[in-house]
Amino acid sequence: MMRVGLLGCGNVGGIIAEKKNGINIKAVYDSAYSSAKRLAGATGAVACENFEDFLAQDIDIVVEAASVSAVYEHAEEVLLSGKDIVILSVGALSDSEFKDRLVSVAGENNRKIRIPSGAVMGIDNLKIGQISKLSKLLLRTTKNPRSLRVDTKERTLVFSGRADECIKKFPKNINVAIALELASGREVDVELWADPAVEKNTHEIFAEGDFGNFYLKIENNPSPQNPATSYLAALSIIVLLKNLEKPLIIGT
Ligand SMILES: NC(=O)c1ccc[n+]([C@@H]2O[C@H](COP(=O)([O-])OP(=O)(O)OC[C@H]3O[C@@H](n4cnc5c(N)ncnc54)[C@H](O)[C@@H]3O)[C@@H](O)[C@H]2O)c1
Repeated sequence: MMRVGLLGCGNVGGIIAEKKNGINIKAVYDSAYSSAKRLAGATGAVACENFEDFLAQDIDIVVEAASVSAVYEHAEEVLLSGKDIVILSVGALSDSEFKDRLVSVAGENNRKIRIPSGAVMGIDNLKIGQISKLSKLLLRTTKNPRSLRVDTKERTLVFSGRADECIKKFPKNINVAIALELASGREVDVELWADPAVEKNTHEIFAEGDFGNFYLKIENNPSPQNPATSYLAALSIIVLLKNLEKPLIIGT
């Protein structure tokens, strides 16, 4: 069983630690040391006060569940230290120069960068966009204004345009759009709606291409500690870790 280091001990880190599922968490790090200590207490992992100590621990893979800025700060160092990384704050990879550098560092060091499916379903199938034309790919996301930190009393379109522009404005809310781009190998059009009538984080995907077309709607329960983050995102990391070493691989 791979030895895991958790970078980010907030809501998602807490869910991973609480559910356990046989995941071997050896070390935890958070810029808020008190959060790292809390998770260390729950898991028996070592709480590290600084990132250098964290990387020096006996771990095979770092799971980032912190922030876009944490990916910028630490992902390259993780790969250079000979560890794989799971990146949940995938919005950081909308910066193609940064993404290309990380990918080449991973390649040179024989390491892997893994992006969990996060808060959407259907992402594995969209990889067909890498080999077959997708003429349309639109993500329509609707969240409660609270999660988006906007003030509105009625359903309002707060952003319409390209995913890489949207993530700059809403770095905590639209990571899924970047995951869809990376999976499909093409740009994703995004509509982001604030709707006081919804409590669930809703993602609708509209895709058309040589394969045919599909429409998918997912209504995610917000996670208890952070309504902007769907509970599904935490589950997707746990299942990714559980399947890493299995001989039977499901999906594209
Ligand atoms: N890919 C997806 O589909 C998807 C879905 C939901 C959330 N996310 C992203 O996952 C991340 C974690 O979500 P969450 O709900 O657990 O957030 P959270 O705010 O509850 O927890 C984040 C934790 O990381 C720590 N942190 C932030 N920046 C850090 C840094 N530079 N170095 C060290 N620690 C740092 C914070 O102190 C906090 O404890 C967020 O970036 C969120 O946007 C991605």
